[in-house]
Amino acid sequence: PRNVVVTGSGSGIGAALTDLLRARGDRVIGVDLRGGEIDADLSTPRGRTAAAAAATEAAGGVVDAVVTCAGTSVPGTAMVTVNYFGTTEFVTALRPALAAARQPRVVLIGSISGTRPTDPDVVAACLADDEDKALTHAERAVADGHARRLYPSSKAALAQWARRTAVADGWADAGIPVNVVAPGIVLTPMSAGIFDDPEMRKVMDTAVPMPLNGYLRPEDVARAVLFLAGDDNTHITGQVVYVDGGAEATLREPAH
Ligand code: NAI
Repeated sequence: PRNVVVTGSGSGIGAALTDLLRARGDRVIGVDLRGGEIDADLSTPRGRTAAAAAATEAAGGVVDAVVTCAGTSVPGTAMVTVNYFGTTEFVTALRPALAAARQPRVVLIGSISGTRPTDPDVVAACLADDEDKALTHAERAVADGHARRLYPSSKAALAQWARRTAVADGWADAGIPVNVVAPGIVLTPMSAGIFDDPEMRKVMDTAVPMPLNGYLRPEDVARAVLFLAGDDNTHITGQVVYVDGGAEATLREPAH
């Protein structure tokens, strides 16, 4: 069986993916705050390093795929420390174990919101791999009442990290595709708050129009991940695949 490391395995998209992977015979090493095979807090450098070491050990040194679903939309600096650094640093720490696999794959869960980053300073600091600076900017955004801006910015930075990493520093040479699956609105505990509040729901339906088949179920996202994380994906890398019912196509500026 393939060893697949899934972060955020305890809820929503990560939990649905874990079920699908296990059903097809893969071995899932789940990483989450609690309740997974590995309990870890990916918001801190220590937590990331410890989680990557434990995952490598659990996989016997060979990780066939990593899928990062851990993330938060609670307005605050964790949007940066979990969504961005909790992903990029964790995946980077797993690279030796990925390189040891026959057909390694990396899939990150981004977001349609990453098409609309609102805090360029945060995005730039993330991409410069400067967590202290990113945190300084993030803390300022929180103090200024703009904490919500950190979410799209964290996801925009993540998408750009994946594009860059896919073709830099020997990831492609090592045979490791790196892609992002960017969902529209998914019915999970994370988005549940939106549906409690009719005003918020209206705002979201305008911000994320999904003309094809409406809101996503977590397994709808997980199935797209399965392809990108599996052996059938031989040449797709550095891509952001929008699984969004047409939101990105609706929102995109016309080409010229
Ligand atoms: P969820 O809230 O159901 O699951 C997220 C998981 O991440 C939870 O199990 C949580 O414990 C874990 N997590 C949070 N902080 C962590 C930390 N510091 N260390 C380790 N684990 C941590 O959310 P959902 O909806 O399944 O989201 C999964 C991913 O999909 C996230 O990256 C989210 O940003 C993204 N996404 C979700 C959308 C939605 O509408 N639900 C839309 C677009 C993207």
